[in-house]
Amino acid sequence: MRGKFITLEGMDGAGKSTHIPDIIKLIESKGVEVISTREPGGTVLGEQLRALLLNEAMHPETETLLMFAARREHIANVIEPALARGAWVLSDRFTDATYAYQSGGRGVSAEKVISLEAWVQGNLQPDLTLLFDVPVEVSVARLASARTPDKFERESAEFFTLIRNAYLDRANKHPNRFRVVNSNQALSDVKIEVKNIISTL
Ligand code: TYD
Repeated sequence: MRGKFITLEGMDGAGKSTHIPDIIKLIESKGVEVISTREPGGTVLGEQLRALLLNEAMHPETETLLMFAARREHIANVIEPALARGAWVLSDRFTDATYAYQSGGRGVSAEKVISLEAWVQGNLQPDLTLLFDVPVEVSVARLASARTPDKFERESAEFFTLIRNAYLDRANKHPNRFRVVNSNQALSDVKIEVKNIISTL
């Protein structure tokens, strides 16, 4: 049986990465193999593209194309083979991030993202997307006290407002796939929400 494809999304500082070890354990407790991966990245070439994407200034469409180039490699070499052998795939970000950051944040037309998505993914879509949502002030405050910021993390509160709105818009457009997790509560409560969602799979 084909595995399930789960993606994690949210603004920088929304806290999604904190939950990855727990989600892996919850899936493993069902007795299935799970692989944990990330975008941009997930392959040797993809990680090289990530280093460029997170550090170099570039045209927004170049950024979009490189995101999808990394994604093509990731799907072909990691995601599809795993799903085909029945493993579950947990990806820290996927295409919703391109809609949020490159289209919502940078203004690349949604039509261009839609056509690249169709080209690179065919029919592949996540079975479940957890959107970790926090108010922009919270994410900006968390980032200010975090490690050295990358190119995206140095962006303004206005940029993050665009990102958050674009993500919430994606969730509204795809209610069957998305679960919005309120990350602006005690970590223990966020963990309970996540556990409840994963247990329904
Ligand atoms: P992130 O997932 O936050 O990793 P870390 O927790 O290690 O900082 O960083 C990835 C960055 O890449 C994030 O700022 C969002 C950005 N990104 C896009 O702009 N578009 C995309 O399609 C993807 C996958 C990520």
